[in-house]
Amino acid sequence: MSPGKADAPRRRGSIAAEAAGPRVEVRKVLKIPLPKRREFQPKGITEMAACPPAPLVRVSRLVALILVGLAVSCARVATDEFIQICTSASSLRSPAQKRGIQIGAAVAAEPLRSEPRYAETLAREFSMVTPENAMKFGPLRPSRDRYDFGDADAIMDFAESHGLLVRGHTLVWNSQLPGWLTAKEWPRDELIAILREHITTVVGHYRGRVVAWDVVNEAIADDGSLDDTIWLRGIGPTYIEMAFRWAHEADPQAMLFYNDVEGEGQGRKADAIYARIQDLVQRGVPIHGVGLQMHLSLTKRPEPSHVMANMKRFAAIGLQVHITEMDVAIKGAATAGNLSAQARIYRDALGVCLSAENCKAFVLWGFSDRHSWIPHVSATSGSALIFDEAYRPKPAYNALMDALCGREAIRSLPW
Ligand code: XIL
Repeated sequence: MSPGKADAPRRRGSIAAEAAGPRVEVRKVLKIPLPKRREFQPKGITEMAACPPAPLVRVSRLVALILVGLAVSCARVATDEFIQICTSASSLRSPAQKRGIQIGAAVAAEPLRSEPRYAETLAREFSMVTPENAMKFGPLRPSRDRYDFGDADAIMDFAESHGLLVRGHTLVWNSQLPGWLTAKEWPRDELIAILREHITTVVGHYRGRVVAWDVVNEAIADDGSLDDTIWLRGIGPTYIEMAFRWAHEADPQAMLFYNDVEGEGQGRKADAIYARIQDLVQRGVPIHGVGLQMHLSLTKRPEPSHVMANMKRFAAIGLQVHITEMDVAIKGAATAGNLSAQARIYRDALGVCLSAENCKAFVLWGFSDRHSWIPHVSATSGSALIFDEAYRPKPAYNALMDALCGREAIRSLPW
């Protein structure tokens, strides 16, 4: 299905129907092709729900025997699939794609140029990248009439030559803005013209090459109101839908996302994000998904069941969700206990994404502790990613592999 202006409502409708409709038979799942760009694919583990539930209910002996037989054969089929996915797995990328999701990481242009191990690890492990800073307003716009696409183009070229999809991040935000923009108050019409030109130029520059854009980032405050930003002050609340419409005009093929932090699970902010996005959908604004950032720590993390419920309500209104910026900060020493607690948090988050039909990408905010934003935000925190500073896999890496290979699910199967 190729997403475009004309078929955007159709895609949303079909996603909703898929979420509610009958599940695909397990054997079919074994034959699913690699996921195509922007299409919903059935996923491995969730298909086990097509198997009879265990423990079996008390019914007649014959029915019970039939159900036992089915459960065991479903379990075997599922196991074979996971073994097949994972015996050949030397990186996260291939099992993730077989399970119907993209696995990604934020990347910085400088180490990509200067550190071969950074580039090798990225290309080996991931299927998607998000430029960590290079596509933000400030870095792209040193002055009002000059664009600097140098770093962003370098990341794009690397991604394309290594078969990585690119998530664009981000067109409208209140941070990392250039001084020329924030130095004065603009008349409303002029600020609208600046934003429109920015979105049209940047999205147009990467037309057909960026699979999904975080069009608007962090626009909603903790209390659910619209955050006080240069865009809200200067344009008013309609800046959000304007941005989505301009982005869609500039690249009708790109999926357009609203991205935010600390709205992953349950609560006031999550509800406010949902309500505002639902309103955009109902009014026909071209929006295709919601990014759940997932900047977590050992002590601050949403309940997996709450994240699942949140993902499901977006599925019900036809939207994808992507985990867009996951990291799990450790305060103090990275002891064995802390690293295994961190690993569990990563595994649970990926497990939720794999179980939600509409969760199509799981993106980390970096991949090596050598290049992570966390120590810059809090000097006493760090070790937030899945490779250590020497690019050695941490327990969190193994936990992601376990989740992809369904090892947890297999352990709980009835034989
Ligand atoms: C961060 C980058 O990682 C840092 O290098 C930069 O100094 C500040 O921004 N939410 C977002 C990301 O949407 O763009 C932020 O990235 C992290 C929080």
